[in-house]
Amino acid sequence: MIEVKHLSKQFGAFKAVDDISFSAGKGEVLGFLGPNGAGKSTTMKMITGFLTPTSGDISVCSNNVLTDPIKTKKSLGYLPEGAPSYPDMTPLSFLHFIAEIRGFRGNEINKRVVDAANRVNLHSVMNRPIETLSKGFKRRVGFAQAILHDPDVLIMDEPTDGLDPNQKHEVRLLIKEMAKNKTIVVSTHILEEVQSVCTRAIIIAHGKLLFDGTPFELESRSKYHNAITLTVQTDSPDTLSDQLMAQLKTLPSVDSVENITTEQGKASFSIFPKKGASISKEVHSCIKTNNWEIDEFHVESGSLDEVFRDITTSSDISAKGALT
Ligand SMILES: Nc1ncnc2c1ncn2[C@@H]1O[C@H](COP(=O)(O)OP(=O)(O)O)[C@@H](O)[C@H]1O
Ligand SMILES: [Mg+2]
Repeated sequence: MIEVKHLSKQFGAFKAVDDISFSAGKGEVLGFLGPNGAGKSTTMKMITGFLTPTSGDISVCSNNVLTDPIKTKKSLGYLPEGAPSYPDMTPLSFLHFIAEIRGFRGNEINKRVVDAANRVNLHSVMNRPIETLSKGFKRRVGFAQAILHDPDVLIMDEPTDGLDPNQKHEVRLLIKEMAKNKTIVVSTHILEEVQSVCTRAIIIAHGKLLFDGTPFELESRSKYHNAITLTVQTDSPDTLSDQLMAQLKTLPSVDSVENITTEQGKASFSIFPKKGASISKEVHSCIKTNNWEIDEFHVESGSLDEVFRDITTSSDISAKGALT
């Protein structure tokens, strides 16, 4: 559905997007992750035909964005960053206008507007000027505009940015629902969003593509993936800590053990597995053999934050953008 090959964009001497290639198929929700200034919006603007690439090829639904822009845009819905619209129009007049420029005529205009408004729950504010609407409703107007022609591909630039937690949740549900028969690309710098809505994630920093894989693969890169957090109760935490650490380190699949805290009556540890190993059985039987009194036993899935920082700040790429 989307095929991007060796895409680059230069603003003067500055390379905002540097040789990015990826593809996305039907049913996929592809997350664009990256610090501010990474090149996410620029890449999206090129896919949607709003910016001309310096080099590279983009095809959407087998149409070339550069040589067949109108055909491509018919199959595309685009929610730009901040969901811009015309503030003095009402959602009704704005969506009518969009339906007309999308080429609908007669009764079809009304049908499309009503359908789109219903899908995003806009009906209660259809006749109020957009500038008087809350941020959440303004965003819904942007959504309605993007899905009005039922496009096969949806590109959404930070669709949940600036929304409150309930509104974020609503938007994520909407994305999931629409994903069934579309290809969706969403940019975000919220890592939990990747876990909750994306089937695949791409990490971009300094214009370069640094990771392309599933959210699970991303988590698996974490030092904490399959690690165990263990808290034991004891009257003499110091003595027990030494004993426990020595014992756990001898387990075949355990790589290392770190003492997190030792305080009144309790000692906590992080137990890290050797690469790819699962250590819960070994640790569990070690606990049983030694009769340690357990307060907490938790298998970690991995910290996306840590992996993200690792990927975007490692080697020669130093991501100066803040992850807010
Ligand atoms: N029209 C432009 N002219 C010059 N520089 C630009 C322009 N648009 C974006 N940039 C720069 O390109 C880089 C990538 O921007 P952008 O794609 O908006 O990043 P992101 O969406 O990942 O935060 C930034 O350093 C930004 O300042
Ligand atoms: Mg952006």
